[in-house]
Amino acid sequence: MARHLITSAIPYINGIKHLGNLVGSQLPADLFARYLRARRHEVLFLCATDEHGTPAELAAAKAGKPVAEYCAEMHDTQAEIARGFRLSFDHFGRSSSPQNHRLTQHFAGVLADKGLIREVTEKQVYSKADGRFLPDRYIEGTCPNCGFDSARGDQCDNCTKQLDPADLINPRSTISGSTDLEIRETKHLYLCQSQMKDKLSAWIDSKTDWPVLTTSIAKKWLNDGDGLQDRGITRDLDWGIPVKRGDADWPGMEGKVFYVWFDAPIEYIACAQEWVDAGKADDWERWWRTDKGADDVTYTQFMGKDNVPFHTLSFPATILGSEEPWKLVDYIKSFNYLNYDGGQFSTSRGRGVFMDQALEILPADYWRWWLLSHAPETSDAEFTWENFQTSVNKDLADVLGNFASRVTKFCRSKFGEVVPEGGTPGALEERLVADVTAKIREYEGHMQAIEVRKAASALRAAWVLGNEYLQEAAPWSTFKEDPEHAAAQIRLALNLIRLYAVISSPFIPDASAQLLAAMHDEDAGWPGDIDTALQALPAGHAFTVPDVTFRKITDAEREDWQARFAGTRS
Ligand code: 2FM
Ligand code: ZN
Repeated sequence: MARHLITSAIPYINGIKHLGNLVGSQLPADLFARYLRARRHEVLFLCATDEHGTPAELAAAKAGKPVAEYCAEMHDTQAEIARGFRLSFDHFGRSSSPQNHRLTQHFAGVLADKGLIREVTEKQVYSKADGRFLPDRYIEGTCPNCGFDSARGDQCDNCTKQLDPADLINPRSTISGSTDLEIRETKHLYLCQSQMKDKLSAWIDSKTDWPVLTTSIAKKWLNDGDGLQDRGITRDLDWGIPVKRGDADWPGMEGKVFYVWFDAPIEYIACAQEWVDAGKADDWERWWRTDKGADDVTYTQFMGKDNVPFHTLSFPATILGSEEPWKLVDYIKSFNYLNYDGGQFSTSRGRGVFMDQALEILPADYWRWWLLSHAPETSDAEFTWENFQTSVNKDLADVLGNFASRVTKFCRSKFGEVVPEGGTPGALEERLVADVTAKIREYEGHMQAIEVRKAASALRAAWVLGNEYLQEAAPWSTFKEDPEHAAAQIRLALNLIRLYAVISSPFIPDASAQLLAAMHDEDAGWPGDIDTALQALPAGHAFTVPDVTFRKITDAEREDWQARFAGTRS
């Protein structure tokens, strides 16, 4: 039994996430966690909400709520939806937790002690009416390029030109509308990442087994242009973790907070502390401190490709720079983007299917199966309603669901709701066992390597073998001449249902549980020898014909959903 620490990139708090976000980190992380648990490994699977930064402040303002209140509510909403998708986090934490406050301030203090933090004086827009510095997104004005009158300080939404607040004509504060703005000097802390370039470079080079997507992005940032630049880790915002040096105040940094991307990955560690403080376990250090046993932990991170630089360079710079015995990530699995019906999913424009909406239409397993079997691993992928309908109807309804239904119903009608007795397996059965064995071993290999799409297709192929066998063996014909032999065929087929339920559980946990319950075998372990596993349900073992496992999506539904989600979510 090995120990596996798994983290998913922590979703921003500013609203409900779309399916593209889900498939880029939380869902594949859950797949891996479920697989490793099923293989009886010890797993700690963590995720949290990413609650700081300007987007959180803006979303709260839009909702007309104090930020802390908005975050607390949205955290609960996201947690509820995560449960709906059966995301099996051991803890779903919050980057605004006291644990993360302390740990982030601790890291800043240690990095300063190591000489890795310097102070930089910058010029920034200050609003006298608001009594605060304004982040770029809090400033609007007329675009110097196209004349659009609501261009933001960082970009014009009309012509997409990247802007500097100083470029705007008639700039105003989006908080108060005040035009009484001036440029003031402000001091910020910079993390001296450039000093760690060689260390980081050597570390990345040592990761020869990482996915190309991960290492190529990391190397691009290390080597392109100016290379690894020092980066500001503080902001002039109200909401966030106050800048402190450990427990002590940081002279000159009063009223400032750490930059959201500095504290967010530290939450991976703080989350384990939250998990212990919530009474769910009694030791987090054995997962995170290499001097306390975390040396034998394998740590895997999941994220979308836009997050890769922060996880391959910035966060490791924090960890390595501290020179403290923290566990470093062992493997980073990253994903490309999932597009939506000819365009992009977009949170700000409300385009695509959002997690809450998805669950209103269909149960989690339908989405889990489509998303995972189409995960954007080697390139961007696209969600279309046609493809979704086809996959669900074919893979889940026709192949898996139909197999379970035909076999159990046939058995009930001829032998009753018990595994039938008699007969002996023949050549056809032997070949099936060999084929299924090969497919399952292939599936396990892909799961171990976190090759999500390949794993899905091996699993699907294992389901198909059952259907092909049923067609060929045709127990309904056999029964007429040789009922004993039909009994042997059906006994094997019933055992296949049970086996499918066990091996499919990481992808479709609810359907698996339903099928296992129908086979009256609720705590089935992962199959070792497949021949043995296919005799787990002995003659005489009772079962119940399951309800419909997966239903088909009709053309009318598909058209309806396509129209419903074509526009913008309000
Ligand atoms: O891109 C995002 O959704 C970020 N909130 C991910 C943060 S991951 C980590 F750093 F914690
Ligand atoms: Zn413009």
